[in-house]
Parts: sequence; structure tokens; C-alpha cells
Amino acid sequence: MRKIILVAGATGNLGERIVRALIDKGAEVRIVVRSGSKIEKINKLEKLGVKVYKLHHWNVEELTQACLEVSCVVSSLAGLREVIIDAQTVLLDAAIAAGVPRFIPSDYSLDFTKFAFGENRNLDLRREFHEYLDKTPIAATTIFNGAFADMLTGQMPVILFKQKLVLYWGNADDRWDFTTMDDTAAYTANAAIDISTPRYLRIAGDQISPRQIREVVNKVTKNKFRLIRAGGQGLLGLIIKIARKIAPGEKELYPAWQGMQYMHNMIDKRSKIDTPDNSRYPEIHWTSVKDLLTAYQESISFASTS
Ligand SMILES: NC(=O)c1ccc[n+]([C@@H]2O[C@H](COP(=O)([O-])OP(=O)(O)OC[C@H]3O[C@@H](n4cnc5c(N)ncnc54)[C@H](OP(=O)(O)O)[C@@H]3O)[C@@H](O)[C@H]2O)c1
Repeated sequence: MRKIILVAGATGNLGERIVRALIDKGAEVRIVVRSGSKIEKINKLEKLGVKVYKLHHWNVEELTQACLEVSCVVSSLAGLREVIIDAQTVLLDAAIAAGVPRFIPSDYSLDFTKFAFGENRNLDLRREFHEYLDKTPIAATTIFNGAFADMLTGQMPVILFKQKLVLYWGNADDRWDFTTMDDTAAYTANAAIDISTPRYLRIAGDQISPRQIREVVNKVTKNKFRLIRAGGQGLLGLIIKIARKIAPGEKELYPAWQGMQYMHNMIDKRSKIDTPDNSRYPEIHWTSVKDLLTAYQESISFASTS
């Protein structure tokens, strides 16, 4: 029998990819959307063949109806406390009320289980949610994927294409964990269908150091990038404290200091994924940073010639 998987956050960047991956795997997919979610996004998802539950209110009653007969609820919600704690708790309570056996929370991050409260504001919210989640009878599985590799072509200030620099904090030879959004989505879809997943699954599409990133960028772009060390973890910690004081942005999801907190965690050995669970689903072809940058370079070259 086809498994029914419900995705919350399907109108988002990762969520849509999870939906596509689930459909590729032959699952029956339901999505729950808010009345204010963008209609174009909903229509696009509906065309893929998902069943849309348009909620008037994000409450346990309405969500429970959507969760009936579902075998796993996958959350890819993004936001601060009102989303990761409040909205996700309502979703979880509804899943439990409907008798859903499994739940994948919206974590998709570096492994924060080894960090203490206060080291990363956004990840603290996930840890707080886990405190509630782990007291419920539902079988939960968190996917830890390091950083989304896709961010290397823009959002993450590591490869500075214009300046031809690879900027890093910490040690040039420490490897960082990266997984593309598509690979994370494919893995999550597999995990959603798999009935015997453990509490935590850790994946890394590539584990690569800043020095190796420079080699790859040089090869792919046929340029000479310089490797520049911004400083150590201590200095980064200090800058985070100052940045949070002078430009707080506490209500924003990704103020500058929040990005720095992710970097601070990423260069910390505690976040390192020692034995990734990549081979659990052998059908996934993992995208390396080289694959990603090659595709990016090709898209730029194509755009400049067309
Ligand atoms: N490891 C990494 O490097 C990395 C990087 C980025 C993100 N992530 C993680 O990936 C996950 C998904 O992020 P994303 O970038 O795909 O997010 P996104 O594109 O911003 O999508 C967020 C989704 O959450 C929904 N949502 C927001 N507030 C809601 C609420 N109050 N009630 C119900 N639904 C709500 C949105 O629905 P509407 O369309 O209705 O607004 C949307 O579907 C998050 O856990 C995020 O932290 C990880």
C-alpha cells in the first residue's frame, strides 16, 4: 500500500524539494498550507499531484483531520519561536491525536546535540522543541546534514567570487560538513518512508576543508583564489557578541550575528559528523562541492553567452 506522508512547510525551499522527492519515490503526499500561503506556490505543488489541505487556522483540530491515516509527518517549517516551538508543537500534537506513528522535525542542520544552550539562537529553539518531542509517544527522526552546500555560491561568505578569495575561520585543514538541499530532501523522503529510522540520522554530501575548497574553486573557475584566514573561533565569538549588541535583529531569522553563530558551530569539532549515515539509502548520488561549483560555473557561463 502507498504510504501517505504529510509535509508541513511544503511551500518553502526545502519543503518543495522534499515533496518532489517523495513523489519520485511513489508516496502519496499531503501538504498543509496556511490561508495566507502564496497561491502560485500551492498551485505548483498541486500540479505535482499532492493533496492540499488549506487550513483556516493552524490548530490541532484542522491539522488532525489532515493527519488521519498518515504514516509520517515531515516538518520543514522555518522561523523563530512562533514557528519552531509554537506552530510545530501544534503540528506534533495533531499528528499524535491522529495516531501518526512517525515525525521528522524541521532540524536539517549541523548536529546541535553536542552544543549547550546559548551557542546558537536558532538551534536552541530546535533543542527546546526536542525536549517536548522526546516526551511524546511518537517516533521522531532528526536529519543532521551540516550546512546546505548551495549556500557556498552566495549566502555563505566563504567563496568570494569577485575578490577571488576563500575566506575561512579556524583551521584551513579542518573539514566542514556540507549537503545540498536536493540531497537532504532526497534523504528525508527516504527516511519518511522508512519505518525503522533511529532518533538521529547524520549525513554529509561532502566533507571538505577551506584549503580543499580553494583547490576545487581554482580548478572549476580556472582562476587563482587566495586563502584568507579571518581569525580563530575566539575572535569570531567576540564579534558575534559585539554584532548582537550593535545590530540586534532579534526578530529576524538570519541577522548577521546568527550567520556567524552557524559558522562558529561549523568550525567547532563537536559538530563534525564522524560516521555519516549516507549509505543507508544507496540510491542517493551525493553531490560534492566540486559537482555543485561545476554546475554553478556552467550556469554562469551559459547566462553570459545567451
Ligand atoms: N543547514 C542549513 O544550512 C540550512 C539552511 C537554510 C535552512 N535550513 C533549514 O531548513 C528548514 C527549511 O527551511 P527553508 O529555507 O526551506 O524555509 P522557507 O523556504 O523559508 O520555508 C518556510 C516554510 O515554513 C512555512 N511557515 C513559516 N511560518 C509558518 C507558520 N507560522 N505556520 C505554518 N507554516 C509556516 C512557510 O509557509 P508559507 O508559505 O505559508 O509562509 C514555508 O512553507 C528549516 O529547518 C531551516 O532552518 C537549514
